[in-house]
Amino acid sequence: MKRLLFMGAFLVIAGYGLYTAVNLYDKYMVVGRMRETPLVRPHERPLLIMETGTVPIQGGDEMVRMALKKDALPESMTTRKSLVEFGKLEYQAFCSHCHGNDLDGQGTVGQSFNPLPTDLTIPRVVQLSDASIFAAISYGTKRSPALASSMSVDSRNAVVRYIRSRQGAK
Ligand code: HEC
Repeated sequence: MKRLLFMGAFLVIAGYGLYTAVNLYDKYMVVGRMRETPLVRPHERPLLIMETGTVPIQGGDEMVRMALKKDALPESMTTRKSLVEFGKLEYQAFCSHCHGNDLDGQGTVGQSFNPLPTDLTIPRVVQLSDASIFAAISYGTKRSPALASSMSVDSRNAVVRYIRSRQGAK
């Protein structure tokens, strides 16, 4: 009985040792699971484009592929009709979930903030300089996120133009 217990304990320990030894190597037969890999900051490298002929063959990635052969693009995608229209698209992508489609702070996510995200059409924001709004987008405020590394300078400028156009509309 004693010997059986001994054998059991030995098997458990030996098994665990073997398991550790096997796990020491990753699938490239390099010791240690974590290895140093090159650091790639956002936008440091262009996104990978799928090879022609891989799925999907229309919509989505196909649009990106077409962008590389400029003339094949539908006109609406090559000529951004105006900065304001481009700004609207960027606003919808980066801001509207918080600040809302009507810039009133009632976005889907925005509603869970207390107090709500700033209504971007109130006089106080109207009186802010373009540069202050640009800075608010770039470096964030207390709770507005810093988007300098996610949005290009052009895109941030366009959003400022779009906000101005909506402020004028009220
Ligand atoms: C995660 C939600 C969120 C997103 C996304 C967001 N904001 Fe905000 N924003 C807020 C909140 C909340 C405030 C209220 C001020 C604070 O608490 O910092 C605010 C405040 C502001 C202000 C007022 C700054 C001031 O001086 O009072 C501006 C301008 C602004 N945001 C612009 C934007 C723009 C433009 C975008 C998109 C590029 C954007 N925000 C994206 C949440 C957000």
